[in-house]
Amino acid sequence: MSCPMRSIDSAQDGEQLGEEAGMLYAEYLMLDKILGAQRLLGEEYHAPVHDEHLFIITHQAYELWFKQIIWELDSIRNVFSEILEESQTLEILRRLNRVVLILKVLVDQVMILETMTPLDFMEFRNYLRPASGFQSLQFRLLENKLGVRQENRVKYNKNYAKVFGNDEEAMKQLDVSENEPSLTDLVQGWLERTPGLEMEGFDFWGKYEKAVEILFKEDEERANNEKTEALRRYRLNDLAKRKEIYESIFKSEIHEALVSRGERRFSHRALQGAIMITFYRDEPRFSQPHQILTLLMDIDSLITKWRYNHMLMVQRMIGATQLGTGGSSGYQYLRSTLSDRYKVFVDLFNLSTFLIPRSYIPPLDDNMKNHLCYWGPIRKNEQEVDERKTNGDAEVQKNVNGQIR
Ligand code: HEM
Repeated sequence: MSCPMRSIDSAQDGEQLGEEAGMLYAEYLMLDKILGAQRLLGEEYHAPVHDEHLFIITHQAYELWFKQIIWELDSIRNVFSEILEESQTLEILRRLNRVVLILKVLVDQVMILETMTPLDFMEFRNYLRPASGFQSLQFRLLENKLGVRQENRVKYNKNYAKVFGNDEEAMKQLDVSENEPSLTDLVQGWLERTPGLEMEGFDFWGKYEKAVEILFKEDEERANNEKTEALRRYRLNDLAKRKEIYESIFKSEIHEALVSRGERRFSHRALQGAIMITFYRDEPRFSQPHQILTLLMDIDSLITKWRYNHMLMVQRMIGATQLGTGGSSGYQYLRSTLSDRYKVFVDLFNLSTFLIPRSYIPPLDDNMKNHLCYWGPIRKNEQEVDERKTNGDAEVQKNVNGQIR
């Protein structure tokens, strides 16, 4: 054993091991393959362009990170595909957080490529045709595995798989990724099982609807007490609009219509679960689920930021009217993909519309507090012996009147 009192100098004295120690760094990482994989077309055409090296390295770095994200997503989807045990949520959080950090790197990495000037890019752009990021298999797999749906893609992007037409293996992978449950599907199933949604139990949704009713009634009274007619009318109009918006979550048929138009993604029950988790996020059992919801939004938000940064870079490099090397309208096509239809967790973003002041949130009864000790459906026999179930109306009213506040 080495002496802990050795001087700093002697700490550098280690004996260097050679091949006899086993696998070496370069061998383990297969660096010969990775570092030998930069083929500069400019050199092949005897017109070398310094920045082509950066262009290739940047794309390769992206593809490696895409691979890691897919690796994490697959593992997260595996865990979600079973009934999620509470002990697993920490692992999900860790992996989702890792995906978020990688995406942050990917968003920032665009800046490095922007150090290349459009004039330099022009020097080798023609050699690239018809290669384009549009043909990135991993990017499409990533989109599909997250939950971007075929019917939500913009027109030019609907037949994205065409470019892989001759590659059987790629087509197979795409087919699987389109048909297996995406992260959005699995999160939806998980949210639908949020404890407390059962009508015969805590009945969160029934209580929430009553709380909103009370909130609106009070708003109406306040509006009617406005001193001027103009202000009164303004407040009542605003209230009528808010009521209409809330109808879209209280009337399931309106919600379904929005889902079929691609404006909402989650099932009605999953949306209820997400709202419930958001309200009661301070309860120990809802705190990790709430963090999961936040990270899912971060993922959507960062991919949208990447799309935006990439689009701006494209405008800088080729302008707004040149076609892309992949054949699209270029900048205009990329601009169209910034739509909400590509945000798989758009419902989580829009949840804020339906938040109500804390004092109006239906208080949890004792039974519900106990149920939040584990993550899963409320057991039937526990519901039957539940004699402490409180009347939602009375509880909310009591809370609003300030007795519990
Ligand atoms: C000078 C730099 C770049 C330019 C000028 C550029 C240009 C374009 C254009 C015009 C498109 C639209 C499809 C087409 O017609 O080609 C596209 C799509 C795409 N590019 Fe780039 N790109 C650049 C860098 C990158 C980098 C570094 C990546 C990283 C992997 C990337 C990934 C993609 C992806 C994934 C798409 C498909 C996006 C979608 O369909 O939603 N691009 N690019």
